[in-house]
Amino acid sequence: MSLTQKSGKRGRFAKVSQITALNSNISLEVNKMKGSVEQTLQTYQGWDEFYAKEVDKKLDFFKLNGRLFDVIFAQQFDRPFMDYLCKLADMIRLLAKTKMGQKKLRHLLPHKRAMLYFVQPSTRTFLSFQNACYILGLSVSESRGTSTSSEVKGESPEDTIRTFASYVDLIISRHPEAGFAEKTAWVLNQTDRPVPILNGGSGPDQHPTQALLDIYTLERSFQHIGGLDGKKIAMVGDLKRGRTVRSLSYLMKNYNDVTLYFVSPDIFRMKDDIKNFLKKRNIPYYETEDFESVMPLVDAIYMTRIQKEYSDDPSSEADTYPGFHFKKEHLSIIQPHCTIMHPLPRRYEIEVEVDKDPRAAYWQQERNGMWIRAALIAYIFRVEREIFEEFS
Ligand code: NCD
Repeated sequence: MSLTQKSGKRGRFAKVSQITALNSNISLEVNKMKGSVEQTLQTYQGWDEFYAKEVDKKLDFFKLNGRLFDVIFAQQFDRPFMDYLCKLADMIRLLAKTKMGQKKLRHLLPHKRAMLYFVQPSTRTFLSFQNACYILGLSVSESRGTSTSSEVKGESPEDTIRTFASYVDLIISRHPEAGFAEKTAWVLNQTDRPVPILNGGSGPDQHPTQALLDIYTLERSFQHIGGLDGKKIAMVGDLKRGRTVRSLSYLMKNYNDVTLYFVSPDIFRMKDDIKNFLKKRNIPYYETEDFESVMPLVDAIYMTRIQKEYSDDPSSEADTYPGFHFKKEHLSIIQPHCTIMHPLPRRYEIEVEVDKDPRAAYWQQERNGMWIRAALIAYIFRVEREIFEEFS
């Protein structure tokens, strides 16, 4: 209420003291709401059965007319799709080098709107998606927390997402809960306004678009030595709760003769679901705690951070595990072509001194995320032909 506003029954104008009291009552109410209103948990008939199914059995549900519609799991991407998307990303980055090219790109999707629903912290995924949208001309709305939306009033996240679908053409979500993106896509696909959902990270479970940019980075790093086929890759750190290494491991199904080295402290070993997936597809993997023994063998080293935010007992865990850090002195042990990657943010896993080495790829990797996400959005809205035509 402003100072000049009428205050109803109480006379002509409210006094400052009255207004202050009123404002603090309002914030008391809001706080009470925050503390006391529990999230509404409605039952969705059929969801539990759907969620329990094997991922391979439900991939069709997230397709439309034979193409990807929602992007929920890394398992959705096959080799032709990966090759196609990497090529498309290359075209977009080339076009974006000139003012004319940028203008072309911006005119592809100015009639589309996207919602970024990021209720878990994010820097790169949020910004790269947002800028991918700008590159293609989409308008963007955002929500970066539940405290300013009707979720404070107890609205369920499913209803919140359904509300976004009333206003926009694409929803990109990041959420602390595993299965969240899948559930919202499942709910929306049964409404009369399904809009594509892109999973920007669902708890410790999956991060499929990070896996896209990781593959794009690996393919670019190995472009003069035969691409990703036949390569040896070490994944290092918290493999148990790191969604990036989980999604990237799934994508190895698309490449020939890849070998994985899982390097982690015993408590953070890669989970059985991923290991079983690899066994089923005859993808060899080795597990070790001896990082230095693996360094000279591999073509790429993918470092990750300890994901303490998912810990059941944070005080029992160290902040950092020095035996799983990549230090300047390690640069002389690795192969001359070995690519060093990290999804970032980093803590102590890679010394800053390493950044200057030409094999350090993580800052390019972060920028690659913008190009591959732009390619994905172009694919979702079927404007790839206009992009390829620029080069024909
Ligand atoms: C990762 C994530 O959020 O899972 N970051 C990212 O998206 N680039 C990795 C991490 O937080 O450790």
